[in-house]
Amino acid sequence: MLEQPPLSLYIHIPWCTRKCPYCDFNSHASNLPIPEKDYINALYSDFLQEYSKLPNPEIKLQSIFIGGGTPSLFEGESYQTLLQKLERHLNFADNIEITLEANPSSMDVKRFNSYREAGINRLSLGIQSFNNNSLKKLGRTHSAEQAIQAIKIAQEADFKNFNLDLMHGLPKQTPEEALNDLQIAIESEPAHISWYQLTIEPNTIFFRHTPLLPNEDILAEIQRQGEIFLEKKGYYHYEISAFAIPSKMSSHNRNYWNFGDYIGIGAGAHGKFTLVNEKKILRTRKRKQPNHYLESTEGKIAEIFEIPIEERPVEFLMNALRLKTGFSRSMFEKRTGLSFIDVSTEVKNLINNKLMQVSLVNGEEFYSTTKTGYRFLDSVLEEFL
Ligand SMILES: C[S@@+](CC[C@H](N)C(=O)[O-])C[C@H]1O[C@@H](n2cnc3c(N)ncnc32)[C@H](O)[C@@H]1O
Ligand code: SF4
Repeated sequence: MLEQPPLSLYIHIPWCTRKCPYCDFNSHASNLPIPEKDYINALYSDFLQEYSKLPNPEIKLQSIFIGGGTPSLFEGESYQTLLQKLERHLNFADNIEITLEANPSSMDVKRFNSYREAGINRLSLGIQSFNNNSLKKLGRTHSAEQAIQAIKIAQEADFKNFNLDLMHGLPKQTPEEALNDLQIAIESEPAHISWYQLTIEPNTIFFRHTPLLPNEDILAEIQRQGEIFLEKKGYYHYEISAFAIPSKMSSHNRNYWNFGDYIGIGAGAHGKFTLVNEKKILRTRKRKQPNHYLESTEGKIAEIFEIPIEERPVEFLMNALRLKTGFSRSMFEKRTGLSFIDVSTEVKNLINNKLMQVSLVNGEEFYSTTKTGYRFLDSVLEEFL
């Protein structure tokens, strides 16, 4: 039976000082002054539009993620104003996690104190690498020294809970270099590390002019050694690219992966919400171009559509199977409104082929991918199409 899932909020800031050659996110290099005040107002009216549609406005908001783009281009006061306005409408959970994605450039780190004052309690720092050669090849605007300084400033601003974003499989990177990045990262004792393998996305400069990347064997070796290293250092590998001190797994990301609901506000932001009474799960998407988003007067929603019932299993599994622990039958049924029997044949086949496994957690059966299934998640998901 479909149940009302927990609710999160995603806020998108679509500008950066420069567009990185590998980046396919909705981020736009801005040479002109960014219309910060107008954008904050637009985010609020976007929120009000979403709020008016919420099936259960009394629900407690469990997390907020301010992502980008580069949210650290905005002043803390802007977020304070916005968060205070949001809290007039929605109840924030007592332990709400409020994350802001920040770049380590010297201008951005000056704002860290004001973010803490605004109520933001988690920073996600886009470090990518501590190797200056790699940073240069990635077109980053900061150096390794600035990255280390940014971490220090975050700690001094009392951010005990911070994440470091790192990438691996960088141009010509060796396993030693990748491990060295992780070694430097853990020295600052981050609560969480997101460790992404560089992917070459269409519509990026790297797609048109692809640099020389490590071959498949080296990539696999980097992955293998990195996972062993982080786990040895006490970081639990709970999702494909996410490692955390066990009590500090990201509540926002876990809500996505558990197929929870989220409001998405800002240019190009996506959202998902469940209408239990109408037995519907909807997705929303906002206008992508910052100008169009800002100028739209009739509403910010570009698209709203129902997830067809036959696509619900794969949509659920695309998220839930990213988690190391996988999902329980009851979670599948609560979040999709379908019976587990609808997917049990496929699950059985995958278990027989050693791509999925079943384990008991607190007396309940959980279905997850095996190590091989985790590596070949796309093939696992194809089974449910
Ligand atoms: C929304 S991005 C931006 C955060 C921030 N603006 C920055 O660049 O530091 C979040 C993270 O996605 C990762 N990322 C972006 N493009 C990627 C790609 N092509 N392959 C792998 N990871 C990528 C980076 O680690 C980045 O920090
Ligand atoms: S990687 Fe980050 S800084 Fe670079 S363009 Fe993308 S969002 Fe902006």
